[in-house]
Amino acid sequence: MNRTLVIAKPDAVERGLAGEILSRFERKGLKLVAAELRSVDEETAGRHYAEHEGKPFYGELIEFIIRLPALVFVVEGPDDTWAIVRTMMGATNSAEAAPGTIRGDLSPSFTENLVHGSDSAESAEREIGIWFPDLWRFNVGASRW
Ligand code: RTP
Ligand code: MG
Repeated sequence: MNRTLVIAKPDAVERGLAGEILSRFERKGLKLVAAELRSVDEETAGRHYAEHEGKPFYGELIEFIIRLPALVFVVEGPDDTWAIVRTMMGATNSAEAAPGTIRGDLSPSFTENLVHGSDSAESAEREIGIWFPDLWRFNVGASRW
């Protein structure tokens, strides 16, 4: 799997940072293969974050993700592109994220941390299936470049 799912979360869209976030991955050399500004419904948010159901922050997380539209997209690159994206995102708690990362540069918050990225090859496949179930049908891939 050399594709991964990214979400510029509602705080990013609200603050006018969705383009900056997308642009960082493009400048890194990853290729955009799908993108949509989505009003996220609770059911889809729940499927996406199913692993966190029951945790203390779950309710706050779902409320946050459905509050406003989010820019959901897929990027493609070398093997384990998901790991490149995770490195560029920075630590989950933005207050502790390193300078140079998206969260470290642009957010002071834990919950409202601007960006989601799949955390493994298996997660990338599962999450792309949730958000872009028809993507496999389109002949867009690294071979084009
Ligand atoms: P993401 O899934 O959104 O890419 O974030 P992540 O892997 O870095 O962190 P994860 O543990 O999967 O948590 C998912 C999202 O839940 C919110 N969160 N808040 N206040 C808290 O204790 C807390 N812990 C997690 C964040 O929005 C985090 O990105
Ligand atoms: Mg996660």
